Amino acid sequence: MDAAQMGADLEKVLLTEEQIQTRLQELAEQIWENYQDKNVLLVGVLKGAVMVMSDLMRALPGSAEMDWMAVSSYGSGTKSSGVVRILKDLDTDITDRHVLIVEDIIDSGLTLSWIRTNLRSRKPASVEICTLLRKPEAAKVEIDVRYVGFDIPNDFVVGYGLDYAEAYRNLRVVGTLAPHVYS
Ligand code: XMP
Ligand code: MG
Repeated sequence: MDAAQMGADLEKVLLTEEQIQTRLQELAEQIWENYQDKNVLLVGVLKGAVMVMSDLMRALPGSAEMDWMAVSSYGSGTKSSGVVRILKDLDTDITDRHVLIVEDIIDSGLTLSWIRTNLRSRKPASVEICTLLRKPEAAKVEIDVRYVGFDIPNDFVVGYGLDYAEAYRNLRVVGTLAPHVYS
C-alpha cells in the first residue's frame, strides 16, 4: 500500500501533523517543569506509543530515560477485556524511580489501569500517565491522567502509531478509516 492509498483510506483527518507536534511540545514543557530534577523514566507501551515516545522525548529540553513494556489487551477482537498479559516487561528496576507512562490512546482505560497498578506494586517514587489521545465516552474505569494531548470522539482511529490490522501506523496524522476499508 503506497502513501496515497493510506491517505485515501482515511474518512476524516482528526489531527494534523502540526496539531500533534504543537501539542506534544506543550506537554513536554509541562512535563519538564515537573521532572527536571528527577531523572524521569518514560515507559512506553508497545507498539502504539512508539511515535508519541519518539517525538515527546525529543521535545523535552533535557535528559530522560526510556523503557518499554508490551502487553496484550485486545486479543483478536476490538474490545478491551481488562485481562492483560505482559508480553515484554521493563528492563529497568523502577524502585524509587519517577515513572511516566507514555501511551498513544486511552479507550476503556482498562489496560492502563492494570499497567499502573502493576508498576505501583514495584515501589516506584511516583507513577503518572501521559497519553496523546483519550476517548472520554469510552471510559469504563476512572484513571487519573496527568497529561492528555487530545480528547477525541468514541470512534476507531488510526495513524501516528495506531493501527488497523498493523497498517497505518506510519501515517503522520490521526484519522478515522473510510467504511470501504472494513469491508
Ligand atoms: P483500553 O480500552 O484498555 O485500550 O483503554 C487501550 C488500547 O487499545 C487500543 N485502541 C486502539 N487502537 N485505534 C487503535 O488503533 C483506536 O481507536 C483504539 N482504541 C483503543 C490501543 O492499543 C490502546 O493502547
Ligand atoms: Mg497502545
